[in-house]
Amino acid sequence: MNYAIALVPGDGIGPEVIAPATDALDAVGDKYGHIFNYAELEAGGKAVDTVGEPLPAGTLEAAKECDALLLGAVGGPKWDTLPGHLRPERALLGLRAGLGVFANLRPAYLLPQLQKACPLKDEILIAGNPEKKPTFNFLIVRELTGGLYFGDRGRSGDHKSAFDTETYSWEEIERTLRTGYDAAMVRRKKLCLVDKANVLESSRLWREVAGTVSKEYPEVETSYMYVDNCAMQIIRCPGQFDVIVTSNLFGDILSDEASVLTGSIGMLPSASLGARGKAERTMGMYEPIHGSAPDIAGKDIANPLGTILSAALMLRYSFGLEKEAAAVETAVTSVLDAGLRTKDIAGFSEAETIVGTKAMGEAVLKALEK
Ligand code: IPM
Ligand code: MG
Repeated sequence: MNYAIALVPGDGIGPEVIAPATDALDAVGDKYGHIFNYAELEAGGKAVDTVGEPLPAGTLEAAKECDALLLGAVGGPKWDTLPGHLRPERALLGLRAGLGVFANLRPAYLLPQLQKACPLKDEILIAGNPEKKPTFNFLIVRELTGGLYFGDRGRSGDHKSAFDTETYSWEEIERTLRTGYDAAMVRRKKLCLVDKANVLESSRLWREVAGTVSKEYPEVETSYMYVDNCAMQIIRCPGQFDVIVTSNLFGDILSDEASVLTGSIGMLPSASLGARGKAERTMGMYEPIHGSAPDIAGKDIANPLGTILSAALMLRYSFGLEKEAAAVETAVTSVLDAGLRTKDIAGFSEAETIVGTKAMGEAVLKALEK
């Protein structure tokens, strides 16, 4: 089968982490008989430099023609002082909205090989875990194309006051919740809606919609938690969570918090999904959850595993290629088992070899070719 993948390597370490991910995809293609065709597109800081805007119309149009998009990272200090509409981050928001990928899946799990990299004490991990093991595995489903990041915003005439608005429609909430419930059904069947319903009207609507949608998923245990408490519970007792569903703003913040517990933000993939489209393919945008890390760009030390694992999520969610996705994930696990570590995940076990971005990518490739 042929698949068209839009590639946005982006800025900073973006191109360095994208290269090993496409290598891994190609190896999977060779092994299982698929062809991945890439359309390399410009967005972010690079696009600001070459065409004067972060998301050129041609990039969005070309991405829409593809089956899925794989993105490295965008942004950097060079563009930080530009006005809002020219900042590289606008490209992310524009791609998400333009591709209609409304549900952002951000897994947070502790791999046994990285257990010592988790800043929490073992006792805390064990106490919160229903199986009394020093680990956790939860999934944050973040609404991605609505809420505060897309609401009306502006300044008063004298520019001395400013506003941003949180607006959610029933439909936006419902489709995000459904993504969460569908995920919970193939996990531990627990869903926690995180909001601020003691203050915000929009949060109260989220709860109302959850009350309705939850009836369709009687097997899933639904619970509710305020976001401030959730920020605390993630550190106090991460093992209690299975699927967390939340708004754009809260999901942005909580997913960064959760990533720290996994040992390194460099390890984590993400998938942003839209509605199911032609030929059972779901448009999706896949990216590591880390940023462009300009301080380490070009040094061959960035961790490519978050991006490689994002490619695995693409195989699973957009193309329905489960065994291919699992093969990539197994290859990643096996290089970690062999003791290979990039700098960000090094120093936590005895028998480890520190490698650079390229060597880590090559090791995954070798494991895949076995
Ligand atoms: C993320 C990032 C982006 C977001 C920024 C760069 C716009 O923080 O993907 O979490 O807030 O969505
Ligand atoms: Mg963020």
